[in-house]
Amino acid sequence: MRLKEKVSIITGAGSGMGRVAALRFAAEGSRVVVADNQEAAAVETVRQVRAAGGEATPITVDVSVEADAKAMVELAIQKYERVDVLYNNAGIMPEADHSVVDTPVEAWDQVMAINVRGVYLACKYAIPRMLERRSGSIINVSSFVALLGCSVPQDAYTASKGAVLALTRSLAVQFAPQGVRTNAILPGPVETPLLMEWLLKDEEAKKLRLARNPTGRFGKPEEVVALAVYLASDESAWTNGASLVIDGGISVNYF
Ligand SMILES: NC(=O)c1ccc[n+]([C@@H]2O[C@H](COP(=O)([O-])OP(=O)(O)OC[C@H]3O[C@@H](n4cnc5c(N)ncnc54)[C@H](O)[C@@H]3O)[C@@H](O)[C@H]2O)c1
Repeated sequence: MRLKEKVSIITGAGSGMGRVAALRFAAEGSRVVVADNQEAAAVETVRQVRAAGGEATPITVDVSVEADAKAMVELAIQKYERVDVLYNNAGIMPEADHSVVDTPVEAWDQVMAINVRGVYLACKYAIPRMLERRSGSIINVSSFVALLGCSVPQDAYTASKGAVLALTRSLAVQFAPQGVRTNAILPGPVETPLLMEWLLKDEEAKKLRLARNPTGRFGKPEEVVALAVYLASDESAWTNGASLVIDGGISVNYF
């Protein structure tokens, strides 16, 4: 077991990659705080973890709300006595987010609140707990769109994931001297509800994304979570401040 005895908080663990991560982390021996703003989804993830013989606790949180982020970290301490891993996975990609010229201010602010403020708040409360033990791993989920321009724009989302990357580097430099590592995962298009619901409505966007991918397919949540297991584990003790792209090669493809 690669995460034996660890305590991990995973945000957005009620769906997609977050749920797959909760299941995999628990299978690797971690106790998991399953945080999501959809109560039933978090409870269902925990049910699946327990059915597979793992240990998890659900909590309903909106990661953009400070009191919720604080409660999430306190639950981990109260229930499992520490936080070893903070996996900032929750993120949104609303339909109203398009080009800057036609994205409503409300959609822009909502994306920034969840995708960026959410990461800040979880770190704000988890890092002091990690520093007490001089040990911790923060995994921030960015996206390959933080590295590339996109002809099918989602400008708020793209900017939010760029902010996550920049914040990752800053945290990596600040806290590694005290034993807390921070890294970012940049997935390409992965088959999860977030992407598939959006692409179902936009056949052109789907075709463009597939045509660009040298592997000719979307990623699977398990393939991204495998990288997160490495970052959460002690195997990655010297990996810090890394921007790890996992996209089937889209971002190195000229044509
Ligand atoms: N799917 C992709 O192709 C892809 C590619 C690159 C990056 N990502 C990123 O990976 C992460 C996970 O994406 P996914 O595809 O698994 O998405 P998903 O929509 O399947 O799951 C996201 C989860 O986050 C939860 N959530 C949303 N807002 C929240 C909030 N305010 N507080 C707490 N929880 C909240 C949702 O309820 C949901 O359970 C996101 O950060 C996303 O931006 C996804």
